[in-house]
Parts: sequence; structure tokens; C-alpha cells
Amino acid sequence: LQAEQPYRTAYHFQSPQNWLNDPNGPMYYKGVYHLFYQYNPNSAWFGDGMVWAHSASYDLINWFGLDHALVPSEPFDAISCWSGSATILPGDKPVILYTGIDANYNQVQNLANPKNESDPLLVEWVKYSRNPLMTPPDGVKGDNFRDPTTAWQGPDGTWKVVIGSYSNSQGMAILYQSQDFVHWTMHRDPLYSSSKTEMWECPDFFPVSINSTNGVDTSVENPSVRHVMKASFNSHDYYIVGTYVTEQERFLPDADFTGTSSDLRFDYGKFYASKSFFDGKKNRRILCAWVNESDSMEDDLKKGWSGLQSIPRQIWLDLNGKQLVQWPVEELNSLRDNEVYVYDKQLESGSVFEVSGITASQADIEIMFELPKLEEAEFIDTSLVDPQLICDKQDASVTGKFGPFGLLALATKDLTEQTAIFFRVFRDHKDYKVLMCSDQKRSSLRNELDKTTYGAFVDIDPQREMVSLRTLIDHSIIESFGGKGRSVITTRVYPKLAINDEAHLFAFNNGSLSVRVSRLNAWSMNKAQITAGGEPGTIS
Ligand code: FRU
Repeated sequence: LQAEQPYRTAYHFQSPQNWLNDPNGPMYYKGVYHLFYQYNPNSAWFGDGMVWAHSASYDLINWFGLDHALVPSEPFDAISCWSGSATILPGDKPVILYTGIDANYNQVQNLANPKNESDPLLVEWVKYSRNPLMTPPDGVKGDNFRDPTTAWQGPDGTWKVVIGSYSNSQGMAILYQSQDFVHWTMHRDPLYSSSKTEMWECPDFFPVSINSTNGVDTSVENPSVRHVMKASFNSHDYYIVGTYVTEQERFLPDADFTGTSSDLRFDYGKFYASKSFFDGKKNRRILCAWVNESDSMEDDLKKGWSGLQSIPRQIWLDLNGKQLVQWPVEELNSLRDNEVYVYDKQLESGSVFEVSGITASQADIEIMFELPKLEEAEFIDTSLVDPQLICDKQDASVTGKFGPFGLLALATKDLTEQTAIFFRVFRDHKDYKVLMCSDQKRSSLRNELDKTTYGAFVDIDPQREMVSLRTLIDHSIIESFGGKGRSVITTRVYPKLAINDEAHLFAFNNGSLSVRVSRLNAWSMNKAQITAGGEPGTIS
């Protein structure tokens, strides 16, 4: 099958067929990880009739499918069951809040409870008979009111949840409060709004520890946490870090969204509608997101499927307090096999060397670069530039001083096809700036693919730290973590020739100055067990 379907993944979550998008209600409950997700049972395209498909896992990597958890059935979700979140109420009682598209195509918020809380698989869900709990308030259009977050509980016991919206030319998180989780009142002001943003989809609001990589549960509020507000719009997941003042129900970010390339994103490539949850098993916060296709809609029909889930990532606040750091969950390492490594290898200007001995279409690579004579770096005024634009203009074929150097993934032996994930290091007045790029221009001989170049600065000081990259390659997806997870770029690529056993991996340096690979470790990745679910008997 892999021969006919070279773009299907081996260790990224995807469904056997049809369209999927947002992760919904991820949670850890009684020893089981749950992933619900937006799924169209009828087509490889998005459409009416969206359901909450459901898979479960003991390790976030191997998944088994269960029956759909929520399917359109009632007036309050007659057209579709759209995105939402899970909250675990005191007494270990999980509940789901989700957006229903009602019979009039209005967006309303609904509640569902497990039929049997003692079943760790939570297979059956019962919709609350008095749904909807919330309908679009005055001044909010019926199609601008969706995607409830995980709820959190204030010190006085009040429950709070935010809903993504757009009103008065501002994207916003509308705040609702409740004493019993059933009767909800809209708060006078949104928890946050910004004129620099569009309609907020899938907001996420959660605390992060200021001095630990451990995660904290969503209701935690104390001096050792700060809060993160994430919103999905403009095809990206943007976030701001700030202080949550509970008594006033205000979120005070260190800086507002700006609507420019300097806004922080979880990922500078393809990664949308993410959702995070607190994993009490390992005391960490985990982030998952939808990674859509970049081939044509016709291709989606031919393939019979569309959309992947990212590898779940652990997230925490960087010690500098300015941004989040992300790293693939450690469980992924259990799929690593056949390690190959290279230590202390000089990469002269213009050199390319193959990393052989691994399955290059299905791999995990960590590489660290040392740069001697940093002071020779080119000058750049980074306050004036958009990193994605520099990556596009100065793509992998353009020689600089330090860089481009990095990896050529899913490449043919002769390099006609290659996806270059690379760095350039610049001098910016007294500092150094590290630019990370993912260049898809030569990723495939096929046309009609979106081959956009992506780029971001990585907040590391190359005088003190090596320039590092971890890249996960899985047939048609490449997830790259720069600077130990300070900047992440995910892309989708569809090589024509560099598929399966024809794929190769190289390290390269196309800069005029040499760099040193201090170490490179690469692994073939085994296939994860991901089995189908769905309506009993309807999907094989
Ligand atoms: C984000 C989104 C959500 C919505 C869902 C529908 O991708 O548009 O706002 O609830 O997808 O599938």
C-alpha cells in the first residue's frame, strides 16, 4: 500500500480515509490518552456532517480507533459537530463542550457527558438535553461564535470558559462564567480582544510555570505561573504571554498581537487549530494540531484522504519568559531504530554528505553545528526584515557566509528533489541572529503543489550555544525543531521520485565559511500502530 500511497505517514496520526481537521478535547483520563478530531465521514473534503471521531492511546504515539463520539443528531447540532474541548470536573468527571452547527447554521455551544464514567475509553457520549448552553450574543454574527476552550475554575469555585469570536472589527475570546457548568452567563468584557486579528478560531488559554518545564493544570493560578493566550487565524496559531488577573477577569499580555511577522507562533509552517492539555500522568502540558495538505483538492480526492495530526509536543515557557519551547513527546523515541551517528565533521563550503544507513523517508535526526569565527558573519538589521521573506529570497541555493547549512530531506540521490531545512547566522549590531528556513521550492518535480518557503528567527545566542536542529521526516510531513524547540517549522511535501526507498538524507553547507557538525544522530523510525475507528461496521 505504501507504494500506491507514498504520502501516507508511518508515525503521524491520520485516519484511513476522508477529511480530518482540528484535534478536539484531548485529555488524559484513567490511564488513557484521548484524541477526538474533526472528521468528515463522507468525503476527503470538508463539508456538512462533521463528527467528533475518537481514538485512544496509552502512549500518545500508537492509537486505536473507537466509535465516533459526537455525530449530528439534534436541532442544536443538526448540521455538524464542530470543535471544542474537554474539561475534567472535580471527582474525575470528564465533560465535553463543543460547537454545534444548528439547523439554521448558527453556531451554539453544547455539553456532552460520558455515558459511563467508569469506562476509561469513554466510548459513548450523551448530549445534554437542554443544549444549547450558549447562543451568539448581541453584536456577534451566528457564524462568528465557536470553539469553546477547556474550562478552568477560579479560587471562588466559578467556572470559566472562552469562545472564539469576532465583533466590532476585533478578534476575541468571549468569556462565560458558571457555577454549575450548565447555566452560563456572558461576562461584560471579553477576556481578550485585538483589532490586529481576524476571527479567532480555537482559542486556548492556559497557565505555564515560570521556572520549570513541567506543566500545570488549567485552573492553576499562583505567582509561579504566567498565562498563554493562543488564537488561530490567518492560517497560523499565534500566541501572547501575560498575566491573568482573576478578580478582574483580565488578561494583561506583555505585548499585544501586532499583525506582523514578529508575532509569536507555535509553528512557522503548517500547524493550525492546536489544542493543549495537562497530562497528569507525566506532569506536562501537551500540544497537538492539525497539519493540512499542500497538494490540490483534486489530489485529496485521488488520495482519498486529507489532513494529519502533528506529533504531540510537550510545551513550556522558556526560562527567558518571552516565548514557549516545544519538543516532541519523549514517547516518540520508542519508535527509533538503527541509529547512525557522525561526530566532529567539518563541513567545508559547498559540501554535501549523505547520512546513509537509515530509512530516509521515515526518520528522526538531531544535528548540532559549531561555528568558528562567528565575527565573520554577515551583517543584517533584523528589525527591518520578515524572516520568511529572507528565507524565500535567499533560499537554499543562495550562498551566504554562515549558511545556508542544514539538512536536505526527502531528496533524490542527485538532489533534483530536496527539501532544505537550514540556518543562516547573521550579525545584528552587537548580537548574532539565527535564521531558520524550510525551503520547499525543489521538494517535488510535481506541479500544482503549494511550495511556500517558511522561516523564523531562533532565539538563541550562537556565542554560547550550538545551533541545533531536530527534524522528523515521515513521507509527506517534515517537522523541524530549531534551537532545542525555540522555533518550529512544519511542512508538507510530495516528492515525485524521492519516495519510500528512493528517499535520501544529506547534510549540507552552501555558505562560504565552513561549519562543523559537532554531532549528528539519526534513526529510522518504526511504524506506529494506528487502527481505524468510526461507526461500528462502516469504516474498515
Ligand atoms: C478551525 C475550524 C474551527 C471549527 C472547525 C470546523 O479549523 O474552522 O473554527 O470549529 O474548524 O471543522
